[in-house]
Amino acid sequence: MTKICCIGAGYVGGPTMAMIAKKCPNIQVTVVDINEKRIAAWQSDDLPIYEPGLDEVVKEALGRNLFFSTEVDQGIIDADIVFVSVNTPTKTFGEGAGCASDLQYWELCARRIKEVSTSDKIIVEKSTLPVRTAEAMERVLHSGQSTVHFEVLSNPEFLAEGTAVADLENPDRVLIGGHETPSGQKALQTLVEIYSNWIPRERILTANVWSAELSKLTANAFLAQRVSSINAISALCEATEADVSEVAHAIGTDSRIGPKFLKASIGFGGSCFKKDILNLVYLCESYGLQEPADYWRQVVTMNEYQEMRFVRNMLHSMFNTIAGKRIAIFGFAFKADTGDTRESPAIKVCRELAAERASVVVSDPKAIENAKIELAEELEQMEFEEDPYAAANGAHAVAILTDWKEYKELDYQRVYDSMAKPAFIFDGRNMLDHQALFDIGFEVYSIGKGRKTHLK
Ligand code: NAD
Ligand code: UGA
Repeated sequence: MTKICCIGAGYVGGPTMAMIAKKCPNIQVTVVDINEKRIAAWQSDDLPIYEPGLDEVVKEALGRNLFFSTEVDQGIIDADIVFVSVNTPTKTFGEGAGCASDLQYWELCARRIKEVSTSDKIIVEKSTLPVRTAEAMERVLHSGQSTVHFEVLSNPEFLAEGTAVADLENPDRVLIGGHETPSGQKALQTLVEIYSNWIPRERILTANVWSAELSKLTANAFLAQRVSSINAISALCEATEADVSEVAHAIGTDSRIGPKFLKASIGFGGSCFKKDILNLVYLCESYGLQEPADYWRQVVTMNEYQEMRFVRNMLHSMFNTIAGKRIAIFGFAFKADTGDTRESPAIKVCRELAAERASVVVSDPKAIENAKIELAEELEQMEFEEDPYAAANGAHAVAILTDWKEYKELDYQRVYDSMAKPAFIFDGRNMLDHQALFDIGFEVYSIGKGRKTHLK
């Protein structure tokens, strides 16, 4: 029986391995992590991450051929294939701080694998890594005297949070990079076989290792660039009475452009877009490519501008003072259907509102606990209230920051009636019926559309 070990039981390691275990009952999959709480949670009824449909996938395989454990060394020793899916955040110290990837967790794994392995293994980079990391990994793995052979593959993950199960079950493509040597190609075929248990062959792309590594950073950069591009246009729409949704629709019907990732918003969040673009910027700079570095950095700069523009719009439209005013935040997660708040635009918005001395009430169906952690330094000015009606009660303004579908279905007459007047609503996701809100009596502000106001 083939044995897989995955190091890292996070947003990627947990769901990807659960899917492999579900689809390949003849493979034993063990996910290991140093975080005991996380490992315990994966084995409970309360999974450590919220992801629609994931409970069923885990339940089907757990204890059959899917195991979670804190025994990292044993997991490695037993495995034929080791996936490394640890976090690779932006470095916060030393050379490349604020831009480069922090590879310390990843390197620790490489050292551990080398230290404890007694048989040949395929090592799969699942984490998102700078291009040519596999080379460094091979150096670590093959340093010293050991006769054990490691073959390193790159198999970046393209799942998006909130749709992880569907993305894993039916991906646009799976990408596997391997060396163009006989042992590299053999390892690559082994992984292709595993995925072809449920993914059509034509959607399993193979490439050289460097192309696979770089494709992951490039995919995220292109996706984020689309969001920044439409957000840049949203600012111009507000100045010219064009409507950003109409513009997005008009350009998205051009099959060369396509309709996806053209929703103007308060900005993109999530643990990866910003980190991966900055990593790309750092890579370009380290190869002396300043213009490509500047080009990609602008995508992040645009995103920061969009977040700040939203807060400034709130402040200016509320008569340039929000000190002491209650402001209800609807949604703190970085997108709908996840409790993840990493790099959520809501963090910046709440901090800036707090800096203006507003009294902020945060509401979210899944992310309240994470919101408390993100806003630990502003807790005095924050209230947390799961029920959106209670959050809006007595508020001067409501700001929609996450596109939870629940927010479409609220009784906005009830929300309006409970608020201070004039009652402002700032739709940072362009997801509500603005005319209906205006007819109720709200002052309505959105992204890239004219404001609707009763004020003279
Ligand atoms: P995460 O922080 O949720 O999980 C990483 C896990 O690795 C943590 O539980 C941590 O305890 C564990 N870990 C760290 N060092 C370890 C060690 N030495 N031994 C054992 N366990 C260790 O991160 P994530 O969101 O799952 O992301 C993992 C990687 O996948 C990152 O490189 C990220 O860029 C990439 N990625 C993430 C997503 C996403 O949607 N979150 C999608 C595609 C790719
Ligand atoms: C993104 C990519 O979509 C995945 O392919 C990739 O694997 C993943 O990053 C990763 O490497 O971590 P994710 O960040 O989970 O996935 O979510 P997205 O759906 O891409 O949304 C990212 C952000 O952009 C969210 O804040 C979302 O609200 C925002 N967004 C997205 C917009 O503002 N407008 C859009 O049109 C689309």
